[in-house]
Amino acid sequence: MVLIAPSLLAADFGRLALEAAAVADAGADWLHLDIMDGHYVPNLTFGPAAVKCLRRESKLFFDVHLMVDNPDRMVPWFAEAGADLITVHAETCAHLDRTLQSIRALGKKAGVSLNPATPESVLEYVKDKLDLVLVMTVNPGFGGQKFIPSQLEKISKIKKMFADREVFVEVDGGITPETAPLCQEAGADVLVAGSAVFGGGNYVANIAALR
Ligand code: DX5
Ligand code: ZN
Repeated sequence: MVLIAPSLLAADFGRLALEAAAVADAGADWLHLDIMDGHYVPNLTFGPAAVKCLRRESKLFFDVHLMVDNPDRMVPWFAEAGADLITVHAETCAHLDRTLQSIRALGKKAGVSLNPATPESVLEYVKDKLDLVLVMTVNPGFGGQKFIPSQLEKISKIKKMFADREVFVEVDGGITPETAPLCQEAGADVLVAGSAVFGGGNYVANIAALR
């Protein structure tokens, strides 16, 4: 069974807590929180203060995706704010092994995200420090972009790399009822969806269509 993680990036930012509650009621498994700093990616979202307020309003599993320069500085902020899992981009970590250890030392699950151009080989020597691998199927920064199909091969390779371990393979970017089955066939365990959930219509029907 695939887990669905709606991304609040596509929600109404004036009603974040209500939007989180609405997708929880509509059957979401996790809540995906995109943290963008306007440096590593050309967009800016919300910070730990907002996540902390949301934490009081929602029981969903908080899947925090850090798209920031120097994530080591911010990992403790989001751990304290109530993240359940913190994902960093391999491309932003000077010492990825150390960063992953620091996330786990704060009692959180640790994830690594790979941009479309980054090969899965960067995971080889940190396998035992990972709870999740996030495969970006768009270039990070914005919702509503087109799915990059070359990433399906990477999803399969990562699934095989972790065949003997309990590691989630999550896919993020351009997930729709058309691309979701391709990702699941390739081995995805968790699908992030922004516009396909919040982009219009009924959240129950949107999540059901992805499943
Ligand atoms: C993009 C973010 C995604 C984004 C996906 O950088 O990491 O989580 O919300 O949006 P959609 O599902 O619209 O492609
Ligand atoms: Zn994301």
